[in-house]
Amino acid sequence: MSLLIAPSILSADFSALGRDIAAVERGGADLIHVDVMDGHFVPNITIGPPVVKAIKKVATRPLDVHLMIEEPDRYIEAFVEAGANMISVHVEAVPHLHRTVTFIKKHGVRAGVVINPATPAVALEDIATTLDFVLVMSVNPGFGGQAFIPHSVEKVRHVRRVLDAAGSSAPIEIDGGIDTETAPHVVAAGASILVAGHAIFGSSDPEQATRALRDAAAPSHHRAVRTTDIRA
Ligand code: DX5
Ligand code: ZN
Repeated sequence: MSLLIAPSILSADFSALGRDIAAVERGGADLIHVDVMDGHFVPNITIGPPVVKAIKKVATRPLDVHLMIEEPDRYIEAFVEAGANMISVHVEAVPHLHRTVTFIKKHGVRAGVVINPATPAVALEDIATTLDFVLVMSVNPGFGGQAFIPHSVEKVRHVRRVLDAAGSSAPIEIDGGIDTETAPHVVAAGASILVAGHAIFGSSDPEQATRALRDAAAPSHHRAVRTTDIRA
């Protein structure tokens, strides 16, 4: 499965989003990950549809909108109109998940379901075949720059088993504490969409940091390293 890099603008410079998005796109970003927080489902408040609409004007990659909000059904159409290409909702926030996921897909947008670190992978069992992707949180949602929870590697393996058993080939996205150290482990476990905020925008060169993350995560990197070692 191809590897997609999704820089999270949560750690970008909000006064220069256009500049920062252009930088990660030059670095090979495949998606732009947008974290929407409401101060209820998570303690933090971030951005809403007007900002997504503004980002849409400058981004050349699909917008991956991660809704960390209560009652996401009320806002899905607004985010679709603003230009979201992928929308994910938390299983912990949605009582009628099948209805919500179907609603997102009906609008021609790819639908994902997110599970928090304490939510078991089996929560996805009965929705698996309806999903376009799964998002595994490897930190508790709400803030950028948190430490990766090591159990997330096993969690990704478990989610992959649940999806495979259900007959779903939906890709697994992972979000939280992803950097050049953690990326190879989660990719080996089955993740193929890597979200990274701090590791990219916390760097002095987000363009290069985007490239570095892909190099660290892609298996071809390890082959290249070995070839270099042999030559040396
Ligand atoms: C956290 C957000 C993440 C966040 C990741 O609640 O969902 O997308 O930006 O940030 P890092 O990569 O810094 O952990
Ligand atoms: Zn996110």
